[in-house]
Amino acid sequence: MSHQTAEILIRKMSFDDLPVVLQIDRLSFPMPWPERSYRYELTKNPASNLLVAEVDGIIPKEVIGFVGCWLIADEVHVSTLAVHPHHRRQGIGEKLLLAVLDWAVSQGAQIATLEVRVSNQSAIDLYKKQGFIIEGKKAGYYRDNNEDAYQMILQGLSSWYSERHGGDR
Ligand SMILES: CC(C)(COP(=O)(O)OP(=O)(O)OC[C@H]1O[C@@H](n2cnc3c(N)ncnc32)[C@H](O)[C@@H]1OP(=O)(O)O)[C@@H](O)C(=O)NCCC(=O)NCCS
Repeated sequence: MSHQTAEILIRKMSFDDLPVVLQIDRLSFPMPWPERSYRYELTKNPASNLLVAEVDGIIPKEVIGFVGCWLIADEVHVSTLAVHPHHRRQGIGEKLLLAVLDWAVSQGAQIATLEVRVSNQSAIDLYKKQGFIIEGKKAGYYRDNNEDAYQMILQGLSSWYSERHGGDR
């Protein structure tokens, strides 16, 4: 289904979203998070923020993607980002990334960081489109296939925010 006309709502993740989130996670990652990790992030980790993308205007509403981050001092680390395979290339991943970075700026973040598989060109392109650059490489970071990770960084988040929104924060 295309969502060119439907409205996409970005909101906080709740326990009720977990069955769909776990399904999207399994479809998207070789090493999906177990349910207990989501429960921990939702209840026990004050540094964590998890958001979902939901198609509005249909009943029942449908969760089609999610993003997570940890905010520590002035650094936000994007911990996860995925869109259901049936709904990719419609701007949802970008919307989720922007939403979590905007939230982090509102909390005082100045730097965003993340790791991404060196083979994951679509995600790398998404992050570069928003101004992230490759800062380094972590050898054998992913345990399933020993793949390297790029560490990516976006500095000067408040200027980045002002450029996008045309005002100071
Ligand atoms: C990475 C992911 C979240 C992108 O979500 P998406 O909703 O399909 O992406 P969008 O439609 O918002 O695309 C935004 C930009 O990302 C890049 N991009 C996304 N998919 C791409 C693809 N298949 N090929 C090349 N570039 C791609 C492009 O720069 C695109 O901008 P454009 O449309 O102007 O060209 C999605 O592919 C996914 O869930 N992958 C599996 C999980 C994953 O790898 N997550 C990232 C972990 S670090």
